[in-house]
Amino acid sequence: MPAPDRLVIRRPDDWHLHLREGAMLRAVLPFTARRFGRAIIMPNLKPPVTTVARARAYRDEIMAALPPGAAFRPLMTCYLTDGADPDEIDRGFRDGDWVAVKLYPAHATTNSAHGVTDLARVRPVLQRMERIGMPLLIHGEVTDPEIDIFDREAVFLERTLAPLLAEHPGLRIVLEHVTTADAVAFVRANAAGGRLGATITAHHLIVNRTHMFQGGIRPHLYCLPIAKRETHRLALREAAASGEACFFLGTDSAPHPIADKESACGCAGVFTAPSAIELYAEVFDEMGALDRLEAFASLNGPRFYRMDPNPGTITLQRGGETVPERVAVASGSEVLPFRAGEATRWRLLD
Ligand code: NCD
Ligand code: ZN
Repeated sequence: MPAPDRLVIRRPDDWHLHLREGAMLRAVLPFTARRFGRAIIMPNLKPPVTTVARARAYRDEIMAALPPGAAFRPLMTCYLTDGADPDEIDRGFRDGDWVAVKLYPAHATTNSAHGVTDLARVRPVLQRMERIGMPLLIHGEVTDPEIDIFDREAVFLERTLAPLLAEHPGLRIVLEHVTTADAVAFVRANAAGGRLGATITAHHLIVNRTHMFQGGIRPHLYCLPIAKRETHRLALREAAASGEACFFLGTDSAPHPIADKESACGCAGVFTAPSAIELYAEVFDEMGALDRLEAFASLNGPRFYRMDPNPGTITLQRGGETVPERVAVASGSEVLPFRAGEATRWRLLD
């Protein structure tokens, strides 16, 4: 059967998103709110979101920045620190102020200086989360400077994630933005009972590490975890397109001002929000798996998070729309979207 030119799926969710604050938030939020029903909002602000009060204030700021009529709902998270209080985390979960805790190993990535230095320090928190069924979202890279940057995810699986699963059999974990065949295999092997899931970004389905150096260094393709070699990209595509319940959509769209990306020491982060669902549709189309896009984008995530899928639908139409060249931020900076100025292969109909 030929692939369709039009696709109607349940409204998807983005289970890993960076929105920032202030002018940047107001500039980038409309792209996500047009496409997704909900998003898991990353807490790596400066300073990070570690208290219920701050999560509430941040959610209010996001709600106030929404375009009129948008039905988008932000799902807040708590940034785990060495000193985290189990009672505060528990209270915020029960009251619906946040839905998950984010673990950044200290210094793993952008704004992670407050992250966890040793898992032993957060045992009481993890035990409480295990008891109340609150998911732990993990940036899965070791931070040991001796470990090659391309090996940091695979080493994390053995060194940290396997022992963590063994010590906390009831803890529900999302391994965020997986980038390796090793992580895909690890998640599959440990997914039984909905105990472990993984998000996959659009850019890791499209870009491999060679693309980062095509004709010169391409700072806008630099993100963490860093893109790996082609065999890994192919494993990610196969995992996403499989429709298996343990894999779901998380863009990790991470806007930075152009000047901070095009710099002697450029920031990590790829800004995919302006064409996020369109990029996934392109990949699933290439895989001959458009019929599985809905599971990956709209059903598997809610199932893991024990929520209902969104009530409405979106319609995707074959045929391109130009990605903006730049997105202006009211504070004066600009952000460069992934595939800036290029045509998408699919477009979203309103
Ligand atoms: C993220 C950011 O910019 O906040 N960057 C990235 O490359 N993904 C941080 C993160 O999630 O690692
Ligand atoms: Zn992220």
